[in-house]
Amino acid sequence: MPLPALPASNTRRGALQHGLAATALVALPALWFGPRAGQPAERRLTPSQTEGPYYPVRLPDDHDADLLRSGARRYQHGQPTWLEGQVTDPAGQPLRGAAVEIWQCDHNGRYHHPGDGNQADPDFQGFGRVSVDAQGRYRFRTLRPVTYGGRAPHIHLKVKLGSRELLTTQVYVQGEPRNERDMLWRSIRNEADRAALTVPFEPVSDGLLARFPIVVAA
Ligand SMILES: [Fe+2]
Repeated sequence: MPLPALPASNTRRGALQHGLAATALVALPALWFGPRAGQPAERRLTPSQTEGPYYPVRLPDDHDADLLRSGARRYQHGQPTWLEGQVTDPAGQPLRGAAVEIWQCDHNGRYHHPGDGNQADPDFQGFGRVSVDAQGRYRFRTLRPVTYGGRAPHIHLKVKLGSRELLTTQVYVQGEPRNERDMLWRSIRNEADRAALTVPFEPVSDGLLARFPIVVAA
């Protein structure tokens, strides 16, 4: 299935420039005025967050992009959701060869993990891994995350390049009132960082669509 169009560009880039501003105004005025014509601005790195306790001990036999099917089983609960985006480096170049992994709880807030009693619905795959395409794009089929144990709804996510882990983070739902009560979400002090990890889950014809662009340093 062709991937839907991604956002034209990631414009979350300001803080690095702003952080340099005080110095730049005095000593390096060229930096204050941003990149020269023809030179793209550096993109802001996607913030990292803790891995949490429920990364799979053993990957499920089926760990493809569709978390709503596990082998022959179909998961019928929750709100079906597309999670997609592009993985780039700070210069905006697609990170070819990267893999994206996600894991999350089922509609009852349970993980496939012994630390959570292995009580997740067996029809829910719970974990998925995809390789990005030539443009650095990835896409998963999963469910809108739900709250559990005081946590705001979130999807755990990793980016790997070969055996190297480039990023571990969590994706939050924009407009979700529980975000404000989530210790981990609240620990993100910078507004731009919060915005980077908190994305709209918008209605589409077959569920919800969440776009999560990822910027990592290779
Ligand atoms: Fe979690």
